Order: sequence, then structure tokens, then C-alpha cells
Amino acid sequence: MSNDQNYALRIEMLETCRRMNASGINQGMAGNLSVRTEDGFLLTPSSMPYDTMRPEDLVEMDFNGTYVGPRPSSEWRFHRDILRERKDVNVVLHCHSMYATTLACHHKTIPSFHYMTGVAGGTTIRCAGYATFGTQELSDNALVALKDRYACLLGQHGQISLGKTLERALWLACEVETLSRMYLQALTLGEPPVLPDDEMERVIEQMRRMSYGRAPDRDEVTDVARPRQIA
Ligand code: 13P
Repeated sequence: MSNDQNYALRIEMLETCRRMNASGINQGMAGNLSVRTEDGFLLTPSSMPYDTMRPEDLVEMDFNGTYVGPRPSSEWRFHRDILRERKDVNVVLHCHSMYATTLACHHKTIPSFHYMTGVAGGTTIRCAGYATFGTQELSDNALVALKDRYACLLGQHGQISLGKTLERALWLACEVETLSRMYLQALTLGEPPVLPDDEMERVIEQMRRMSYGRAPDRDEVTDVARPRQIA
């Protein structure tokens, strides 16, 4: 990755962090974001406000856990472990969105009460067991909950969404939040019925075939670092 591409990627990460807060799925300094690079990944620093964060504040880390830059996010372990384990994604986005976290406070898994549960890649969106923030145990729990999935809840903590691109990970985090809100609303009338597994298989296949949730012009976008067009 050239210096220009690295800089463009840093700018795109800052924009994604700010959009994450502006969209209402996160607030304050909660949450963190990482993107795979050639030799490791770029990660948000710990406890730094997104609106004043600068491109040079993003931390360069390798898979041994050594870094260059300010103090990395306390959650560097799950960013490292997910990116190491999941070669099918390039982006890890963590946030404390209100409705997903409300479900996570009750350790609820989101069932296939609505077909959109399939956007996370399976019939459910699991909730990882609670562990103290910033620990290896939390990372281990998250990896289990993310098996064959692109998103999970984190018990008494928040949610994680994955994607090939920053755009896609942010989109999924918003979908998880919307589904969580719908599920909480549906629960007010009692536990809703779920779609059977064979129907969910059809839904997931249909989503894959149609690149569901991706604008047609984004279908070919797999590169996380898109150079910015400067007028
Ligand atoms: P960091 O600021 O260290 O990334 O922590 C925020 C957070 O959400 C911890 O889970």
C-alpha cells in the first residue's frame, strides 16, 4: 500500500467513525474500528473523540500485537483475532448501539423472527458471553459468537459487525441495530414466531445472489482503500 493509499484509508476510517456516531448507533468515545492492511491492520486509538481524531492518530498494528502510534483501542485483541481468523472480511466495527446493547444486556440471541436476520449470514445473530472489556476472554467469546456470521452481540456490552469494506460493516451495524429495535418491539406482544431454517436458507441464498443491501455500483468493490477524488 502506497503512502497515499494509506492516508486515504485513514481518512475513510475517520469518516466512518464520525458517521457511526452521527447515525446514532454509537455515542461519545465508545466503540472502535479496524481495517486490514498489507502487514497487519489500522485501528482506532483508545479513548479519543472521533470528531477531533486525526489521520495520524490511527494506530498501525501487526498480528503479534506490536504497534506504532498512540495507545491502541483497549479491544485490540478482538480486532487482531477476528482479522487473523476471518480472512473473508477486512473490517471490524464495534459500537454500543442502544437496542442491540439492550438485547445484549439480557444475553438474547436475535432469532429469525424477521427475514433480515439473514444479513448477518445465518439464522440467528448470537450473543457472546460476557467478559471484561479489553480481555482475551472477550475476544475468545466474540470469535465463537461470530462463527459463520458477520455480526454478533456482546453480552452486557454492545455489538460487532464485520465487512469486506468500511461501507459494508457500517451498513451491517445499522441493520443489526434496526433488527434489535424491531425484535424488542415484537417482544412486547410476546415471543414472535420464527421463520423455519429451510426458509432462512432460501433467504440467505437470495441475499447472496442479489448482493442484497449493496447498491449495484458497489458490487465489485472489495478493496477497502478507495482513493479519494480531489477536485
Ligand atoms: P476504546 O476507546 O479503548 O476503543 O474503548 C471503547 C470501547 O467501546 C471498549 O469496548
